[in-house]
Formats: sequence, structure tokens, C-alpha cells
Amino acid sequence: MRKWIVAIAVLAALAGAGAWNLSGVYAQEAAAPAAAPAAAPVFPGPVMETERFMKKFADPLVENLKTLLAQEPATPRDWRKVEDEAGSGAEVAVLVGIRVGEHESKPEWQEMTKAMYDASVALTASAAKKDYADTKAKYEALVQSCNACHQKIDPDTLPVIEP
Ligand code: HEC
Repeated sequence: MRKWIVAIAVLAALAGAGAWNLSGVYAQEAAAPAAAPAAAPVFPGPVMETERFMKKFADPLVENLKTLLAQEPATPRDWRKVEDEAGSGAEVAVLVGIRVGEHESKPEWQEMTKAMYDASVALTASAAKKDYADTKAKYEALVQSCNACHQKIDPDTLPVIEP
């Protein structure tokens, strides 16, 4: 009698494990095509102070774009450089958005970061069309998005960026 109980328990456990394995496989197969990146980053967060971050990542964007757009880009390769620099602006905006600190935790921070992101995306699209006049206008709008945040956070100490 006891042996039977043990045997039934073992069978039930095996069946259970089998069902779990199967559902696991199906769940994986079903989820794979729609898999999105994990929402939470797997790293702890920003390392640099915002001041140094700006100097290292935000300032060179404007400096590079200023040089690239001083005259109309002549070759597809030159336009591609503008496009990549503009795309980097959007990527940098994403990094600005995940910064932590006194200013960075205010709700306006996200709005102003989004403005920089949108301006960079618009600039990327314009550069992709190789429209020099519009690209210049969109570049100036990007610089305005830098200044809008600086003005809002601390007009007395934060720089006014010249396009
Ligand atoms: C969402 C807000 C925000 C946006 C957008 C933003 N900045 Fe800043 N920026 C700051 C803050 C805050 C500081 C000051 C950080 C500190 O001193 O702690 C700063 C500082 C700077 C500095 C001074 C760094 C130094 O060494 O003193 C430069 C240069 C700068 N930003 C350039 C830019 C450029 C260029 C852009 C746009 C491409 C930009 N920033 C976009 C918030 C922003």
C-alpha cells in the first residue's frame, strides 16, 4: 500500500515537472517574437556628475554639428556624418533623462529632455533628406532645447550655447 502511494506521488511529480517544462517551452516560444528590452536597466545608473557629462557628451554634439554645417555638406558621406551626429543627440538625450539628482528628479527635467530628444530626431530626419536650410533650422532648434533647460534650471550659472 505504502509503495503505491510513493509510486503515485512520484508519477504526479514527474507529470507536474513535464507540464511545467512544456508550458515553459511554449511560453518562451510565444513570447520570443514580441520580446522587448527589459524595462529596468541591469546596471546601477549614471556615474558622472551632470556637469562633466554635459562637457563630455552634450557640448561636443553642438561643436561637431557647428563644424559639419558651417557650409552645405558636399557628399552623401558628409550628410551621413550630420545624420549620425543628430542621432547621437537623441541618444544623449536618453542618457540625460536617466540622470539622478536635485534638478534631475523634477518633473520638468523629463519634459526638457524630451524636447532635446525630439529636436534631435527632427534634425536627423532633415539631414536624411539633405535639406541644408531646414537642417540648419533644426540644428538651431536643438541648441534652443539645450538653452531652454539651462534657462529653466539656473539662468545665472548655466551656459547659453551659441549655435
Ligand atoms: C534637461 C536639462 C538639460 C539639457 C536638455 C541640456 N543641459 Fe546642459 N546642463 C544642464 C545642467 C543641470 C547643467 C549643470 C550641471 C552642474 O553644474 O551640476 C548643464 C551644464 C552644461 C554645460 C556646462 C558644463 C560645465 O563644464 O560647466 C554645458 C557646456 C552644457 N550643459 C551643454 C549642453 C548642450 C550643448 C546641450 C544640448 C545639446 C545641453 N547642455 C542640454 C542641463 C541640461
